[in-house]
Amino acid sequence: MIKHPATYTNSFIPIFAELLIGCDNVLDIFGGVGKLALIKEYGFTGKVICNELEREWAETSPYNVDEWHIGDAANMDWAESNSFDAICTSPTYGNRMADHHNAKDGSKRVTYKHFLGRDLNEANTGRMQWGDKYREKHFEVYKECSRVLKNGGLMIVNVSDHIRKGQVVNVVDWHKEALTNFGMKLTEEIKIETPRMGFGQNAKSRVQHECILVFKYYA
Ligand SMILES: C[S@@+](CC[C@H](N)C(=O)[O-])C[C@H]1O[C@@H](n2cnc3c(N)ncnc32)[C@H](O)[C@@H]1O
Repeated sequence: MIKHPATYTNSFIPIFAELLIGCDNVLDIFGGVGKLALIKEYGFTGKVICNELEREWAETSPYNVDEWHIGDAANMDWAESNSFDAICTSPTYGNRMADHHNAKDGSKRVTYKHFLGRDLNEANTGRMQWGDKYREKHFEVYKECSRVLKNGGLMIVNVSDHIRKGQVVNVVDWHKEALTNFGMKLTEEIKIETPRMGFGQNAKSRVQHECILVFKYYA
């Protein structure tokens, strides 16, 4: 497997499996290396479909994904409208993992680009810091989610705030509002303490939890 800097935290997998009980299929629009497929080890019996922009992560996935699609989540032409019972995903967070320059010093870089070993595709949110471009792209992607989700479907989003220049950046609240714009109604918000990276500029002031947002979609 080509290394990936931001796969799901292990403890989230059984939570997803429980939330997805009764779903015949689930789509991860930002599939990464396909770790969502581990829900099958916790009783999920439906199909796991993943979409990922960077081919190498999909092609070297060690997980039991039923179907892979390579492309931009904002334009999933391969997917029929109203065809998914659920979407379960984790977007990038617009934090320093999106750094896209080549380090001049030999310091440790935990970024999407450095783990992949090449520049990311232009449309990859993993090269977008928190800002207009990041927000516009997620708007496009969430619009596409509302097309492919069934009416009454489930939308699960794992996301987190981060610290920039000593201030909390309210990424979670933004995602909540953006999804609400597309007919998603927040039904549950699960906060989970997670171990965060112990190095880098903001090491001493990390946000200590991640969120799992659960929405029901009403077309
Ligand atoms: C936070 S990671 C998700 C990792 C995944 N949950 C896992 O456990 O393997 C976000 C992923 O979204 C992908 N991505 C970013 N922008 C994308 C886009 N526009 N379309 C499809 N995938 C995209 C990135 O390449 C990255 O692998």
